[in-house]
Amino acid sequence: MDFTSKLILFTITFAWLLFVGTADSPTGNMHVVNRNFLKPGGLLDLCKKTTNPTLCENSIQPHFFKPHLDPSEALTIEVEATLNQTEKTMVVINGLYKKVDLSKSLKDSLDICKEQYGSILDAIKQTKDAIATRNWVEARAKFGAVISSQQACSDSFEGIQQEFTFAGDSKTIFDLGGNCLDIIVDLQQSEPQNDPPMTQSPPSPYDNVIGPIS
Ligand SMILES: *[C@@H]1O[C@H](CO)[C@@H](O)[C@H](O)[C@H]1NC(C)=O
Repeated sequence: MDFTSKLILFTITFAWLLFVGTADSPTGNMHVVNRNFLKPGGLLDLCKKTTNPTLCENSIQPHFFKPHLDPSEALTIEVEATLNQTEKTMVVINGLYKKVDLSKSLKDSLDICKEQYGSILDAIKQTKDAIATRNWVEARAKFGAVISSQQACSDSFEGIQQEFTFAGDSKTIFDLGGNCLDIIVDLQQSEPQNDPPMTQSPPSPYDNVIGPIS
């Protein structure tokens, strides 16, 4: 076999393996696989470190076209996905206000959610600046606030769970925001900054950083 034939055979075999790998993926749906997706240090590796790897892959992969994965660009996409999901849920909330039989308790919860989601949108816009300047400490604080705001909204439905018709959309904000926080922590750990000396920060469910022993 000459070199070209070998190369063709290799390419076919590789493409087939890629196909089988994709067909077996947990999502079960076929999608075009970016070559860098499966490489060590690729998107799959990055997403593996997040709380919701499948959501991470599915929300980032269709928007990522570069031959090399830049984690901070992947983060920018996940941040935008969180922003989009929040805006989408805002539309649902605004629609619910129009219900004819709007109960006082539902109205109160919607007011809380509308305010909290407004804060989420503000925080995300500020996070974009922090990411641009690679200020991970700031970005982490902003996304911690995003998670808190999302929780304040869902907490406001305690006792009237059956009225929480956008619980699924709300949970997706939590999951996307959690993934952003995970990627930020990963970037922060790989790029040590001149942080101010150990300040006590409130624990977060995504806080998987092992601090220095003092
Ligand atoms: C966010 O929404 C905009 C406008 O609909 C869209 O162009 C963009 O691709 C979305 N981004 C992500 C990451 O989903």
